[in-house]
Amino acid sequence: NRHLLSIDDLDVADIHRIFTTAAEMHDVQRREVKKLPALRGRTVINLFFEDSTRTRSSFEIAGKWLSADVINLSAKGSSASKGESLRDTAMTVTAMGIDGLVVRHSASGAAAQISQWIDVPVINAGDGTHEHPTQALLDGYTLTRRLGTLEGKHVAIVGDVTHSRVFRSNVKSLTKLGASVTVVAPPTLMPAGVGDWSKEAGFATSWDLDSVLPDADAVMMLRVQRERMSGGFFPTAREYTIGYGLTRGRLDLLKPGTPILHPGPMNRGLEISPDAADAADSLVLDQVSSGVAVRMSVLYHLLAGESDKTDGGTA
Ligand code: CP
Repeated sequence: NRHLLSIDDLDVADIHRIFTTAAEMHDVQRREVKKLPALRGRTVINLFFEDSTRTRSSFEIAGKWLSADVINLSAKGSSASKGESLRDTAMTVTAMGIDGLVVRHSASGAAAQISQWIDVPVINAGDGTHEHPTQALLDGYTLTRRLGTLEGKHVAIVGDVTHSRVFRSNVKSLTKLGASVTVVAPPTLMPAGVGDWSKEAGFATSWDLDSVLPDADAVMMLRVQRERMSGGFFPTAREYTIGYGLTRGRLDLLKPGTPILHPGPMNRGLEISPDAADAADSLVLDQVSSGVAVRMSVLYHLLAGESDKTDGGTA
């Protein structure tokens, strides 16, 4: 597939191929001179219609370390703020001769829609509540490095499942990698239809965090996305933390050494306590560091094989 729109675009061999290349790219991060010539002569645009710290900057770093020219364009400051349509924006930047487009948008399906309009690879950097495939890849990569393999491992994904594209991509990739997944949320933040999907995709659901934590080999906390809750936040923040927060007290329910993940940005004190976020077993910053390596790997696999425009070849 020449795009990365969803984890559905990848089979398990593709995921392992991305991880293997990411491990090589991870070594690059430790070098004094980090640049590789693999994408010299290629141009990538990061087109972000939603805010981002980690995803946009790590795609920018990843592209630059592969010697691509990377341009960041956000809705604020672009002609999208004057009413230019998504289609016209995508067609306009593509007409400049780019080789790849990384896109984040609040509408589910936006990246897939753009991929039908333009003829360069499109990478989904988060589309509404649908998917965030490179986040799931970096989470799977981080966990594989920590646990050795995900085959037979039990991962608890906890939080605001309704609004989470991170959950949707992770449940697909973790199950492909052989993990068993339990998704935990309050009933008000568990999406309608998850029951049918869980049966089809082979994951479990629960409303009871305390009964799930002792059996987990890894815990992935999700951000409470209040910006997507037009009808208000229910339960209240205090009730949420009592029922579903990874509080200091709940750390005692985990097996010793259980890794803790969070995609960021974290609501410290709401879904995750500082004790958990900063624990020795927290992988939050490893996820960020892996994010650069995994995005280098994704850019390399999608763009280095495109029509040969480089003069330096691959690394
Ligand atoms: N995890 C994640 O997508 O973070 P950003 O919104 O900062 O990119």
